[in-house]
Amino acid sequence: MAYHFHSQTNPRRQEVDGPLMITKGEGCYVVDELGNRYLEGMGGLWCASLGFENERLAEVAARQMKTLATYHTFNHRSNDPCADVVEQIAELSPISGSRVFLVNSGSEANDTMVKLAWYYNIARGKPSKRKIISRKGAFHGSTVMGAALGGLPHMHESFNLPGLNVIYAEKPHFYKHGMPGESEEAYCDRLIADLESLITAEGHETIAAMIAEPVMGAGGVVTPPPGYFPRISEVLKRHDILLLSDEVVCGFGRSGNWFGCESFGFVPEMMSIAKGLSSGYVPIAAAVIGDHVYQTIADEADRIGVFGHGFTYSGHPVTAAVAAEVLRTYREMDIPARSRELGRYLFEKLETSIAGSPFVGEIRGAGFLAGIELVADKSTRTAFEPALKVGAFVERRCRAHGVMIRNMGDVISVCPPFIMTTPQIDELVGGISAALEDAVSEFKN
Ligand SMILES: Cc1ncc(COP(=O)(O)O)c(C=O)c1O
Repeated sequence: MAYHFHSQTNPRRQEVDGPLMITKGEGCYVVDELGNRYLEGMGGLWCASLGFENERLAEVAARQMKTLATYHTFNHRSNDPCADVVEQIAELSPISGSRVFLVNSGSEANDTMVKLAWYYNIARGKPSKRKIISRKGAFHGSTVMGAALGGLPHMHESFNLPGLNVIYAEKPHFYKHGMPGESEEAYCDRLIADLESLITAEGHETIAAMIAEPVMGAGGVVTPPPGYFPRISEVLKRHDILLLSDEVVCGFGRSGNWFGCESFGFVPEMMSIAKGLSSGYVPIAAAVIGDHVYQTIADEADRIGVFGHGFTYSGHPVTAAVAAEVLRTYREMDIPARSRELGRYLFEKLETSIAGSPFVGEIRGAGFLAGIELVADKSTRTAFEPALKVGAFVERRCRAHGVMIRNMGDVISVCPPFIMTTPQIDELVGGISAALEDAVSEFKN
């Protein structure tokens, strides 16, 4: 409490309340210092696809630490685990001729994609193509560029971020932003028209790329209307704007396919991957780049003599060895099929157990990823007063009932490990259901 300045935490409350100390992982459960056991429905921070301890991965990490504990990939160096992991990523990637640029976090992967989009446009003689389109409510990380890409007010307020030329399209959430009487199809038409207008107003010759998560995770597990991404992709291609898929949450099976772009019918020019890449066990991430963009960038870097980007730990042998083994494990498990199967069970269970709650407005998601929108009035889709902090109350009550979920305002999310069993899904939904009953007793007047 005296020394640690926590991420994404209220520091003054932290000084008084202190942290929840997690001391142990047991499969899908984590245990705190008092011995309380929680079923972790969020994989930590959308990460732990293989749960919270794994002997096979521990052995791989230990073996690599004993063989080659560290090395770098600058100036034509590499190592076997690095070669192994990039080859596996390229094999799984839906982007043709994928090249993999390894980094350490989702934020760095997104920063890298933006820098590559700028570099690509300089190389093509189009330096005025600099702006990046993001979306309201998006989360893309906490580095300077990551925060600038984000469309969440608390990521900007008081940071005095430099003007980085990020412009924001609408958040594609029909349940909240569809107009009375508007069909989902008409809503999608409106979103596409809005994007066209934004591009026209800004000038396509000033826009380098658009970044989007297939399903917005921290933005509230928002699934787009049908047809949204293929149409976005068509608009961007017509205006010579790159599409960057942020697959930090959606990647590696989460949405029911290897990558979220496959679930939502588009192929981006680049994608960022992190979290599930190592099941969150070690910090490793990457920007995956299509052949056309790579070739243009490589020519420009050759002209300069070096590609001036990269990190000390890009291609670190220990993180690469763990990620390579995680990918082998996912392939053995057929993780996309498992995600679809577990997801079907989870959504059925949520429907039968909590859809009837007076506070549950919408249950949405894809694959094994779900969001539950809490509302004060279902018939009018009226939100709760933010000051009531109903979502935070439900999160606390879930913990009291032995399950961990996350609330983003009044949206409850679950993103469980893929090793979860169906009785454990029953337990998870049971905890959420009990917490919702507590909320109804507390807030229903
Ligand atoms: C969609 C998305 N992009 C990027 C990031 C940033 O990743 P990191 O925290 O590893 O920098 C996150 C983190 O939650 C995320 O959810």
